[in-house]
Amino acid sequence: MTAKLIDGVAIGKQLREEIKQGVSKLNASGCKPGLAVILVGENPASQTYVKNKEKSSVEVGMKSELIKLPATVTETELLAYVDKLNKDESIHGILVQLPLPKHINEDLVIQAIDPNKDVDGFHPQSVGKMMIGQQTFLPCTPHGIMEMLQRTGVEISGKHAVIIGRSNIVGKPMGQLLLQKDATVTYCHSRTKDLVSFTKQADILIVAIGRAKFVTAEHIKEGAVVIDVGMNRDENGKLCGDVDFDEAKEIASAITPVPGGVGPMTITMLLKNTLQSAQIAKA
Ligand code: GUN
Repeated sequence: MTAKLIDGVAIGKQLREEIKQGVSKLNASGCKPGLAVILVGENPASQTYVKNKEKSSVEVGMKSELIKLPATVTETELLAYVDKLNKDESIHGILVQLPLPKHINEDLVIQAIDPNKDVDGFHPQSVGKMMIGQQTFLPCTPHGIMEMLQRTGVEISGKHAVIIGRSNIVGKPMGQLLLQKDATVTYCHSRTKDLVSFTKQADILIVAIGRAKFVTAEHIKEGAVVIDVGMNRDENGKLCGDVDFDEAKEIASAITPVPGGVGPMTITMLLKNTLQSAQIAKA
């Protein structure tokens, strides 16, 4: 079997057109959605992510504010920036790029963000609401994956979804969102014994472990849908996912590439959440 490619660039583009129209509508009523991003330190990966977020928000017509702080910034100073943005009516979404330097308590910073502006969906209030299926901002990567699955016509109800990875940002919320669409969900992680016995049962396999080409043909059931959240460099320095794409595409029925799969959807959902926040503020 040669798998159908789930094209995150194309799906993201279509969604961004929809978002752009939503932004235009708000602009016409005198409201410009605003996204503020706080970047602490010089982490090169974070710098790239943040640059892409800024560029994408401007492209759909939003106001973008980037606050760059030195790695030496104190927790108190950072909390003061968050508080200022909480009170700023031109800002509808606040994102503090993670990871933060070790001397800053990440949980404290996330909890300081006004839940009404928590477009990352990381605040405990957002997480709690998501768990019980209440309307809230959903974390961007799992939300983007749900959007991809739905727009590709992948049936979720009654299917066995297996997730490798249990992070707060991807793995845990991913399972919840799939459960809400009536999947049977299994979580696997670094301590799972006999991983293959679980992954081989997956109708939908989500891989978010951060290890280059970790998932190979032996892990995959014939006809499975494979979603690769990884972003790694292979031995030649080339971008690759957590899945060995060349092997997996011969077994899966559909698969996301890296790059061009989940990545573009994550930023798109951030824009969607920011638009939604501005729409609520305007209403
Ligand atoms: N670092 C890696 N991914 C993310 C994300 O989605 N949001 C934030 N704030 N930081 C990140």
